[in-house]
Amino acid sequence: MKFSILALGSAISVNAAVLGQRATYAVVGKPEGFATGVTGGGSAACQIPSGIAQLKSWLADSTARCIVLDKEFNFKGSEGTTKEKGCRPASNKCPGNGGQDAINKASWCTNGNAGAGVTTIDVTYDTAGVSGLLVGSNKSLIGVGAKGVIRGKGLRIANGAKNVIIQNIHITELNPQYIWGGDAIAVDGSDLVWVDHCKFSLIGRQMFVLGNGASNRVTLSNNEFDGNTKWSATCDGRHYWGIYLTGSSDLVTMKGNYIHHTSGRSPKIGGNTLVHAVNNYFHDNTGHAFDNGASGGKVVAEGNVFQNVKTPLLENKGQFFGSPSTGANAVCSANLGHACVLNSFGSSGALGGTDTGFLSNFKGKTIAKASAASTSVASTAGVGKI
Ligand SMILES: *[C@@H]1O[C@H](CO)[C@@H](O)[C@H](O)[C@H]1NC(C)=O
Repeated sequence: MKFSILALGSAISVNAAVLGQRATYAVVGKPEGFATGVTGGGSAACQIPSGIAQLKSWLADSTARCIVLDKEFNFKGSEGTTKEKGCRPASNKCPGNGGQDAINKASWCTNGNAGAGVTTIDVTYDTAGVSGLLVGSNKSLIGVGAKGVIRGKGLRIANGAKNVIIQNIHITELNPQYIWGGDAIAVDGSDLVWVDHCKFSLIGRQMFVLGNGASNRVTLSNNEFDGNTKWSATCDGRHYWGIYLTGSSDLVTMKGNYIHHTSGRSPKIGGNTLVHAVNNYFHDNTGHAFDNGASGGKVVAEGNVFQNVKTPLLENKGQFFGSPSTGANAVCSANLGHACVLNSFGSSGALGGTDTGFLSNFKGKTIAKASAASTSVASTAGVGKI
Protein backbone atom coordinates (compact mmCIF):
# COMPACT_ATOMS: atom_id res chain seq x y z
CA MET A 1 0.00 0.00 0.00
CA LYS A 2 2.65 2.42 1.03
CA PHE A 3 4.67 1.47 -2.01
CA SER A 4 1.84 2.25 -4.42
CA ILE A 5 1.26 5.68 -2.86
CA LEU A 6 4.92 6.53 -3.32
CA ALA A 7 4.76 5.33 -6.90
CA LEU A 8 1.73 7.51 -7.52
CA GLY A 9 3.49 10.49 -5.98
CA SER A 10 6.49 10.11 -8.20
CA ALA A 11 4.31 9.67 -11.29
CA ILE A 12 2.57 12.95 -10.50
CA SER A 13 5.82 14.82 -10.05
CA VAL A 14 7.20 13.50 -13.35
CA ASN A 15 4.04 14.62 -15.09
CA ALA A 16 4.27 18.05 -13.53
CA ALA A 17 7.84 18.37 -14.71
CA VAL A 18 6.85 17.38 -18.23
CA LEU A 19 3.92 19.78 -18.21
CA GLY A 20 6.20 22.50 -16.88
CA GLN A 21 8.58 21.93 -19.77
CA ARG A 22 5.81 21.80 -22.32
CA ALA A 23 4.64 25.22 -21.30
CA THR A 24 8.01 26.57 -22.44
CA TYR A 25 7.84 24.87 -25.84
CA ALA A 26 5.83 26.89 -28.28
CA VAL A 27 6.15 28.68 -31.54
CA VAL A 28 7.36 32.21 -30.78
CA GLY A 29 5.54 35.08 -32.44
CA LYS A 30 3.65 35.19 -35.69
CA PRO A 31 4.83 35.64 -39.24
CA GLU A 32 4.71 38.90 -41.08
CA GLY A 33 3.77 39.13 -44.70
CA PHE A 34 2.28 36.53 -46.96
CA ALA A 35 2.21 33.54 -44.56
CA THR A 36 0.13 35.50 -42.06
CA GLY A 37 -2.51 33.16 -40.66
CA VAL A 38 -0.29 30.06 -40.48
CA THR A 39 -0.90 28.09 -37.28
CA GLY A 40 1.23 24.96 -37.80
CA GLY A 41 0.37 22.35 -35.20
CA GLY A 42 -1.94 24.80 -33.47
CA SER A 43 -2.78 23.75 -29.92
CA ALA A 44 -1.33 20.22 -30.22
CA ALA A 45 0.82 19.37 -27.19
CA CYS A 46 4.53 19.70 -27.99
CA GLN A 47 6.43 16.41 -28.01
CA ILE A 48 10.07 15.42 -28.37
CA PRO A 49 10.70 12.55 -30.81
CA SER A 50 12.74 9.67 -29.41
CA GLY A 51 14.98 9.44 -32.46
CA ILE A 52 15.22 9.88 -36.21
CA ALA A 53 12.56 7.25 -37.02
CA GLN A 54 9.95 8.93 -34.84
CA LEU A 55 10.88 12.37 -36.14
CA LYS A 56 10.43 11.10 -39.70
CA SER A 57 7.04 9.54 -38.97
CA TRP A 58 5.68 12.48 -36.94
CA LEU A 59 6.63 14.96 -39.67
CA ALA A 60 4.95 12.93 -42.38
CA ASP A 61 1.73 11.72 -40.76
CA SER A 62 -1.65 13.41 -40.98
CA THR A 63 -1.87 14.44 -37.30
CA ALA A 64 -1.53 18.07 -36.26
CA ARG A 65 1.71 18.21 -34.26
CA CYS A 66 4.14 20.41 -32.39
CA ILE A 67 7.49 18.60 -32.68
CA VAL A 68 10.34 19.77 -30.49
CA LEU A 69 14.02 19.11 -31.21
CA ASP A 70 16.17 19.46 -28.09
CA LYS A 71 19.26 17.85 -29.58
CA GLU A 72 20.86 16.85 -32.85
CA PHE A 73 19.01 14.32 -35.03
CA ASN A 74 21.69 12.82 -37.24
CA PHE A 75 20.50 11.06 -40.40
CA LYS A 76 23.99 10.52 -41.84
CA GLY A 77 24.48 6.87 -42.67
CA SER A 78 20.86 6.00 -41.88
CA GLU A 79 20.11 5.11 -45.50
CA GLY A 80 23.57 3.93 -46.48
CA THR A 81 25.81 5.36 -49.15
CA THR A 82 25.39 5.43 -52.91
CA LYS A 83 28.24 5.04 -55.35
CA GLU A 84 27.52 5.82 -58.98
CA LYS A 85 28.66 7.87 -61.94
CA GLY A 86 28.51 11.62 -61.54
CA CYS A 87 30.61 14.38 -62.98
CA ARG A 88 33.17 17.08 -62.52
CA PRO A 89 31.41 20.06 -64.11
CA ALA A 90 33.21 22.68 -66.11
CA SER A 91 32.83 25.05 -63.13
CA ASN A 92 35.08 22.88 -61.00
CA LYS A 93 38.47 24.15 -62.00
CA CYS A 94 39.61 24.10 -58.41
CA PRO A 95 39.78 20.44 -57.36
CA GLY A 96 43.01 20.98 -55.47
CA ASN A 97 41.55 23.65 -53.24
CA GLY A 98 37.92 22.65 -52.98
CA GLY A 99 35.42 22.72 -55.81
CA GLN A 100 32.02 21.09 -56.12
CA ASP A 101 31.46 17.96 -58.19
CA ALA A 102 27.96 16.80 -59.13
CA ILE A 103 25.56 13.93 -58.74
CA ASN A 104 23.86 13.22 -62.08
CA LYS A 105 20.37 14.11 -60.87
CA ALA A 106 17.86 15.04 -63.58
CA SER A 107 20.62 14.21 -66.11
CA TRP A 108 22.35 17.41 -65.01
CA CYS A 109 25.78 16.05 -65.94
CA THR A 110 24.75 15.16 -69.47
CA ASN A 111 22.13 17.73 -70.52
CA GLY A 112 24.49 20.64 -71.01
CA ASN A 113 24.08 22.23 -67.56
CA ALA A 114 27.47 20.99 -66.41
CA GLY A 115 29.16 22.98 -69.16
CA ALA A 116 31.63 22.14 -71.88
CA GLY A 117 34.53 20.05 -70.68
CA VAL A 118 32.51 18.11 -68.10
CA THR A 119 34.09 14.78 -67.19
CA THR A 120 32.47 11.65 -65.77
CA ILE A 121 33.72 10.64 -62.34
CA ASP A 122 32.65 8.26 -59.57
CA VAL A 123 30.69 9.94 -56.81
CA THR A 124 29.96 8.47 -53.37
CA TYR A 125 27.38 10.22 -51.24
CA ASP A 126 25.26 9.79 -48.17
CA THR A 127 21.90 8.54 -49.47
CA ALA A 128 19.83 10.21 -46.74
CA GLY A 129 21.00 13.66 -47.83
CA VAL A 130 19.49 13.69 -51.30
CA SER A 131 15.83 13.37 -50.29
CA GLY A 132 14.13 15.46 -47.64
CA LEU A 133 11.93 14.33 -44.77
CA LEU A 134 8.34 14.64 -45.96
CA VAL A 135 6.34 17.15 -43.96
CA GLY A 136 2.54 16.92 -43.85
CA SER A 137 -0.07 19.53 -43.01
CA ASN A 138 -0.55 21.26 -39.68
CA LYS A 139 2.95 20.86 -38.21
CA SER A 140 5.13 23.03 -36.05
CA LEU A 141 8.77 21.96 -35.87
CA ILE A 142 10.69 23.95 -33.29
CA GLY A 143 14.13 23.83 -31.69
CA VAL A 144 15.18 24.40 -28.08
CA GLY A 145 17.82 27.12 -27.75
CA ALA A 146 20.45 26.41 -30.39
CA LYS A 147 20.17 22.63 -29.89
CA GLY A 148 17.63 21.70 -32.57
CA VAL A 149 19.84 20.36 -35.36
CA ILE A 150 18.96 18.08 -38.26
CA ARG A 151 22.17 16.72 -39.75
CA GLY A 152 22.36 14.94 -43.07
CA LYS A 153 18.79 15.40 -44.25
CA GLY A 154 16.50 18.25 -45.23
CA LEU A 155 12.75 18.84 -45.22
CA ARG A 156 10.31 18.53 -48.10
CA ILE A 157 6.93 20.25 -47.75
CA ALA A 158 4.95 19.02 -50.75
CA ASN A 159 2.00 17.01 -52.07
CA GLY A 160 -0.50 19.62 -50.96
CA ALA A 161 0.88 19.99 -47.41
CA LYS A 162 -0.47 23.19 -45.88
CA ASN A 163 0.07 25.18 -42.75
CA VAL A 164 3.62 24.42 -41.64
CA ILE A 165 5.90 26.31 -39.25
CA ILE A 166 9.63 25.54 -39.05
CA GLN A 167 11.28 27.65 -36.37
CA ASN A 168 14.71 27.70 -34.74
CA ILE A 169 16.10 24.60 -36.50
CA HIS A 170 19.60 24.23 -37.96
CA ILE A 171 19.81 22.01 -41.04
CA THR A 172 23.35 21.06 -41.99
CA GLU A 173 25.70 18.74 -43.86
CA LEU A 174 23.76 17.50 -46.89
CA ASN A 175 26.60 16.14 -49.03
CA PRO A 176 28.11 19.62 -49.35
CA GLN A 177 30.79 18.34 -51.71
CA TYR A 178 28.17 17.62 -54.39
CA ILE A 179 25.84 19.73 -56.49
CA TRP A 180 22.48 17.90 -56.05
CA GLY A 181 23.72 16.59 -52.69
CA GLY A 182 20.43 17.70 -51.11
CA ASP A 183 18.15 20.68 -50.47
CA ALA A 184 17.72 21.95 -46.91
CA ILE A 185 14.07 22.97 -47.31
CA ALA A 186 12.09 22.26 -50.48
CA VAL A 187 8.50 23.44 -50.83
CA ASP A 188 6.41 22.34 -53.79
CA GLY A 189 2.64 22.26 -54.16
CA SER A 190 1.89 23.75 -50.76
CA ASP A 191 0.45 26.76 -48.95
CA LEU A 192 1.06 28.76 -45.78
CA VAL A 193 4.65 27.92 -44.90
CA TRP A 194 6.63 29.96 -42.36
CA VAL A 195 10.35 29.33 -41.93
CA ASP A 196 11.72 31.48 -39.13
CA HIS A 197 14.99 31.76 -37.20
CA CYS A 198 16.45 28.71 -38.93
CA LYS A 199 20.04 28.24 -40.05
CA PHE A 200 21.30 26.47 -43.15
CA SER A 201 24.92 25.47 -43.63
CA LEU A 202 26.99 23.01 -45.67
CA ILE A 203 24.19 22.16 -48.08
CA GLY A 204 24.93 20.46 -51.42
CA ARG A 205 22.21 22.07 -53.45
CA GLN A 206 19.62 24.70 -52.48
CA MET A 207 19.35 26.04 -48.97
CA PHE A 208 15.74 26.89 -49.76
CA VAL A 209 13.82 26.04 -52.92
CA LEU A 210 10.28 26.41 -54.10
CA GLY A 211 9.57 23.78 -56.76
CA ASN A 212 7.66 24.19 -59.97
CA GLY A 213 4.26 23.59 -58.36
CA ALA A 214 2.48 26.47 -56.62
CA SER A 215 3.81 27.04 -53.13
CA ASN A 216 1.32 29.86 -52.57
CA ARG A 217 1.96 31.87 -49.39
CA VAL A 218 5.44 31.66 -47.85
CA THR A 219 7.29 33.77 -45.30
CA LEU A 220 11.04 33.33 -44.79
CA SER A 221 12.06 35.43 -41.81
CA ASN A 222 15.08 35.87 -39.57
CA ASN A 223 16.96 32.93 -41.09
CA GLU A 224 20.71 32.62 -41.46
CA PHE A 225 21.92 31.33 -44.80
CA ASP A 226 25.58 30.55 -44.11
CA GLY A 227 27.34 29.83 -47.39
CA ASN A 228 30.80 29.12 -45.97
CA THR A 229 32.02 25.90 -47.57
CA LYS A 230 35.16 24.01 -48.49
CA TRP A 231 33.36 22.83 -51.66
CA SER A 232 32.47 25.91 -53.64
CA ALA A 233 31.06 25.80 -57.18
CA THR A 234 32.80 29.14 -57.62
CA CYS A 235 36.12 28.01 -56.12
CA ASP A 236 36.13 30.70 -53.46
CA GLY A 237 34.80 29.14 -50.28
CA ARG A 238 31.26 30.43 -50.91
CA HIS A 239 28.09 28.54 -51.72
CA TYR A 240 26.47 29.31 -55.08
CA TRP A 241 23.09 27.56 -54.62
CA GLY A 242 21.41 29.78 -52.05
CA ILE A 243 17.68 30.40 -52.49
CA TYR A 244 15.59 29.54 -55.55
CA LEU A 245 12.05 30.91 -55.63
CA THR A 246 10.35 29.49 -58.66
CA GLY A 247 6.89 27.94 -58.62
CA SER A 248 3.58 29.12 -59.96
CA SER A 249 2.54 32.61 -58.95
CA ASP A 250 3.88 32.05 -55.42
CA LEU A 251 3.84 34.83 -52.85
CA VAL A 252 7.07 35.06 -50.86
CA THR A 253 7.98 37.45 -48.06
CA MET A 254 11.69 37.49 -47.18
CA LYS A 255 12.28 39.59 -44.10
CA GLY A 256 15.21 39.93 -41.71
CA ASN A 257 17.32 37.16 -43.22
CA TYR A 258 21.11 37.15 -42.99
CA ILE A 259 22.48 35.76 -46.23
CA HIS A 260 26.25 35.58 -46.18
CA HIS A 261 29.26 34.03 -47.91
CA THR A 262 27.27 33.05 -50.97
CA SER A 263 28.19 33.50 -54.62
CA GLY A 264 24.87 33.18 -56.46
CA ARG A 265 21.13 32.55 -56.29
CA SER A 266 20.60 34.62 -53.20
CA PRO A 267 17.82 34.51 -54.38
CA LYS A 268 17.00 33.42 -57.94
CA ILE A 269 13.36 34.08 -58.86
CA GLY A 270 11.05 32.64 -61.53
CA GLY A 271 7.59 31.20 -62.09
CA ASN A 272 5.76 34.55 -61.77
CA THR A 273 6.65 34.57 -58.08
CA LEU A 274 5.88 37.81 -56.26
CA VAL A 275 8.67 38.55 -53.76
CA HIS A 276 8.76 41.16 -51.05
CA ALA A 277 12.39 41.28 -49.87
CA VAL A 278 12.60 43.62 -46.92
CA ASN A 279 15.25 44.31 -44.27
CA ASN A 280 17.52 41.45 -45.26
CA TYR A 281 21.28 41.66 -44.87
CA PHE A 282 23.25 40.40 -47.84
CA HIS A 283 26.88 40.13 -46.81
CA ASP A 284 30.04 38.96 -48.55
CA ASN A 285 28.70 37.67 -51.84
CA THR A 286 31.31 37.24 -54.58
CA GLY A 287 28.69 36.70 -57.30
CA HIS A 288 25.08 37.82 -57.43
CA ALA A 289 22.32 38.29 -54.87
CA PHE A 290 19.10 38.59 -56.94
CA ASP A 291 18.80 36.76 -60.24
CA ASN A 292 15.50 37.68 -61.89
CA GLY A 293 16.61 36.30 -65.22
CA ALA A 294 14.25 33.32 -65.36
CA SER A 295 11.42 35.62 -66.51
CA GLY A 296 8.18 36.25 -64.73
CA GLY A 297 9.59 37.07 -61.29
CA LYS A 298 8.22 40.21 -59.64
CA VAL A 299 10.30 41.69 -56.83
CA VAL A 300 10.17 44.64 -54.47
CA ALA A 301 13.46 44.98 -52.60
CA GLU A 302 13.49 47.60 -49.84
CA GLY A 303 15.34 48.32 -46.62
CA ASN A 304 18.00 45.70 -47.34
CA VAL A 305 21.74 46.02 -46.72
CA PHE A 306 24.16 44.96 -49.43
CA GLN A 307 27.64 44.80 -47.97
CA ASN A 308 30.45 43.43 -50.15
CA VAL A 309 27.96 42.09 -52.70
CA LYS A 310 29.55 42.12 -56.14
CA THR A 311 26.34 42.02 -58.18
CA PRO A 312 23.14 42.81 -56.23
CA LEU A 313 20.95 42.10 -59.31
CA LEU A 314 22.30 39.85 -62.06
CA GLU A 315 19.57 40.11 -64.63
CA ASN A 316 15.97 41.27 -64.77
CA LYS A 317 13.67 39.55 -67.24
CA GLY A 318 10.69 39.99 -64.95
CA GLN A 319 9.84 43.10 -62.99
CA PHE A 320 11.97 44.55 -60.23
CA PHE A 321 11.57 47.59 -58.01
CA GLY A 322 14.81 48.30 -56.15
CA SER A 323 13.54 51.29 -54.16
CA PRO A 324 15.91 53.65 -55.96
CA SER A 325 15.18 57.03 -54.37
CA THR A 326 13.02 58.64 -51.73
CA GLY A 327 11.04 60.38 -54.43
CA ALA A 328 10.46 57.24 -56.47
CA ASN A 329 9.75 55.10 -53.40
CA ALA A 330 6.55 56.99 -52.58
CA VAL A 331 4.89 54.96 -55.34
CA CYS A 332 4.76 51.94 -52.97
CA SER A 333 2.28 53.58 -50.60
CA ALA A 334 -0.82 52.93 -52.68
CA ASN A 335 -0.19 49.19 -52.87
CA LEU A 336 2.14 48.17 -50.01
CA GLY A 337 0.69 50.60 -47.49
CA HIS A 338 4.01 52.35 -46.90
CA ALA A 339 6.55 54.31 -48.89
CA CYS A 340 9.34 51.90 -49.80
CA VAL A 341 12.51 52.22 -47.75
CA LEU A 342 15.92 52.82 -49.31
CA ASN A 343 18.38 49.96 -49.52
CA SER A 344 21.89 50.48 -48.18
CA PHE A 345 25.10 49.64 -50.03
CA GLY A 346 28.69 49.20 -48.91
CA SER A 347 31.44 48.10 -51.32
CA SER A 348 28.73 46.65 -53.56
CA GLY A 349 27.46 47.02 -57.09
CA ALA A 350 24.24 48.80 -57.98
CA LEU A 351 20.84 47.15 -57.58
CA GLY A 352 18.78 49.10 -60.09
CA GLY A 353 15.20 48.11 -60.77
CA THR A 354 12.65 50.82 -61.52
CA ASP A 355 9.63 48.76 -62.66
CA THR A 356 6.42 49.84 -60.93
CA GLY A 357 3.65 48.41 -63.12
CA PHE A 358 3.39 45.24 -61.01
CA LEU A 359 3.06 46.90 -57.61
CA SER A 360 -0.72 46.53 -57.77
CA ASN A 361 -0.10 42.77 -57.24
CA PHE A 362 0.54 43.61 -53.58
CA LYS A 363 -2.77 45.37 -53.12
CA GLY A 364 -5.11 43.76 -50.61
CA LYS A 365 -2.46 41.26 -49.42
CA THR A 366 -0.82 41.12 -46.00
CA ILE A 367 2.44 43.05 -46.38
CA ALA A 368 5.41 43.00 -43.99
CA LYS A 369 6.42 46.31 -42.45
CA ALA A 370 9.71 47.91 -43.42
CA SER A 371 12.33 49.49 -41.16
CA ALA A 372 15.50 51.34 -42.05
CA ALA A 373 18.20 49.08 -43.52
CA SER A 374 20.45 47.73 -40.74
CA THR A 375 23.30 45.28 -40.30
CA SER A 376 21.87 44.35 -36.88
CA VAL A 377 20.13 41.52 -38.74
CA ALA A 378 23.41 39.58 -38.32
CA SER A 379 22.77 39.31 -34.59
CA THR A 380 19.04 38.57 -34.72
CA ALA A 381 18.85 36.00 -37.53
CA GLY A 382 19.46 32.28 -37.13
CA VAL A 383 19.08 29.70 -34.36
CA GLY A 384 19.27 30.28 -30.62
CA LYS A 385 18.13 33.87 -30.94
CA ILE A 386 14.56 33.55 -29.67
C1 LIG B 1 -5.29 20.68 -40.91
O1 LIG B 1 -6.08 21.43 -40.02
C2 LIG B 1 -7.27 21.94 -40.60
C3 LIG B 1 -7.90 22.85 -39.57
O2 LIG B 1 -8.06 22.19 -38.35
C4 LIG B 1 -8.14 20.79 -41.04
O3 LIG B 1 -9.31 21.28 -41.66
C5 LIG B 1 -7.37 19.92 -42.02
O4 LIG B 1 -8.13 18.78 -42.36
C6 LIG B 1 -6.04 19.48 -41.43
N1 LIG B 1 -5.28 18.78 -42.46
C7 LIG B 1 -4.85 17.56 -42.31
C8 LIG B 1 -4.14 16.96 -43.48
O5 LIG B 1 -4.99 16.93 -41.29
